[in-house]
Amino acid sequence: MRLSERPVLTEAHIAKRVREIANEIAHDYRERELTVVVVLKGGAIFAADLCRELRVPLTTEYVRAKSYSGTESNGQPHIEIAFDEPLKGKHVLVVEDILDTGRTTSVLMRQLAEHRPASLALCVFLNKPVRRVIEVQPNYSGFTLGDRFVVGYGLDYEQRFRNLPAIYDVRDFTPSQ
Ligand code: XMP
Ligand code: MG
Repeated sequence: MRLSERPVLTEAHIAKRVREIANEIAHDYRERELTVVVVLKGGAIFAADLCRELRVPLTTEYVRAKSYSGTESNGQPHIEIAFDEPLKGKHVLVVEDILDTGRTTSVLMRQLAEHRPASLALCVFLNKPVRRVIEVQPNYSGFTLGDRFVVGYGLDYEQRFRNLPAIYDVRDFTPSQ
């Protein structure tokens, strides 16, 4: 596979938007201490950049959600939760790479709500509302996309391309040689 020249979202475009979302979150949580719950693996890179732009006191926790094989959701999200600190009474912000059908996120948010946080909000880097099967509304969203499969900036195709600093469309990939 070879990558096309043109990204869907450039590094500069992403950096600017991440700063904007961080400012919005910092303003909203100015009087509350944040617990950022990073959804692995895809959310790791976005969350790393976002947390460094968030000039408010925060702690991080991690969950792992798996739902895709290739470019198709198998509809059965599997979620692993292992927190250092209980979420009870905390102001929890879930940070995810992408909101697609909503299956993974709806299950995750329901499971997190059972921990009785003081508040629970959702921040996604990418949002694909036209793909939604289950109603989920993000509180913060980086960019809205149509029905296209993208990689880079944490997002993978069969575990590859997470390290690309920009977002690329999979249709833009052409076989090498
Ligand atoms: P659902 O459908 O449950 O899916 O909302 C959320 C998870 O699916 C993956 N996903 C993608 N991964 N490019 C990717 O690399 C995409 O365009 C894409 N769409 C969905 C992702 O892991 C997300 O957490
Ligand atoms: Mg994935």
